[in-house]
Amino acid sequence: MKKTAKKKTIRNNIIRLRDKMPALERKEKSKMLTQNIVALDEFGRANTVMFFATWRSEPDTLPIIKKSLLMQKNVVLPKVEKGRGKNKLLPIRIESPENDLREGVWGIREPYKRENIVPDRKIDLVFVPAVAFDGAGNRIGYGGGFYDGFLKNIPLSKRIGVGFEFQVLRKIPFGNKDVRVKKIITEKGVKTCFRTPHS
Ligand SMILES: Nc1ncnc2c1ncn2[C@@H]1O[C@H](COP(=O)(O)OP(=O)(O)OP(=O)(O)O)[C@@H](O)[C@H]1O
Ligand SMILES: [Mg+2]
Repeated sequence: MKKTAKKKTIRNNIIRLRDKMPALERKEKSKMLTQNIVALDEFGRANTVMFFATWRSEPDTLPIIKKSLLMQKNVVLPKVEKGRGKNKLLPIRIESPENDLREGVWGIREPYKRENIVPDRKIDLVFVPAVAFDGAGNRIGYGGGFYDGFLKNIPLSKRIGVGFEFQVLRKIPFGNKDVRVKKIITEKGVKTCFRTPHS
């Protein structure tokens, strides 16, 4: 099977499993995941943190967004920018998840105040959503290449994957445009990703 076809199969299978997770289980696991983020050293030190707004069956990020705002951190979320052939993510600061988000493309809630765009170099940590990861930090997203395009300008040490434990697979296919993460946080804890000659 070709790499892109393999990625597609993994996407379909994992999303189906994640959609099947009971709401209560998702809530409990999201709570544990939030605690694991709060306990992270680099989170404590970070002034500006980028999260993502929960879409469908993704982990619930609203608690960690609120917690970060209470801790006086700058909170940044992505806005999908659809351009002529170049789709990209714009990092925009929000002050309130209730007031500063609107429904964007594909029904994903996103910030809209372009005057609050944050330069990449000001972002201390990026929490990255995914459909699947592997132990080397490789990542499969929804297939748009949006995060790949954005993360290539963010140093590896600042990229932290977020997902449920069952989304971390032994090995996933990856290409030269796929951008890795340094750590992966799940409800079970934090993994630091190491690259071997084959990963
Ligand atoms: N950095 C990039 N610049 C331009 N195109 C890219 C980049 N990364 C990926 N692409 C293109 O985007 C398409 C989807 O890539 P891929 O399947 O890796 O997406 P993904 O990693 O699942 O999505 P995302 O990163 O948005 O979560 C591919 O055609 C790929 O060539
Ligand atoms: Mg990719």
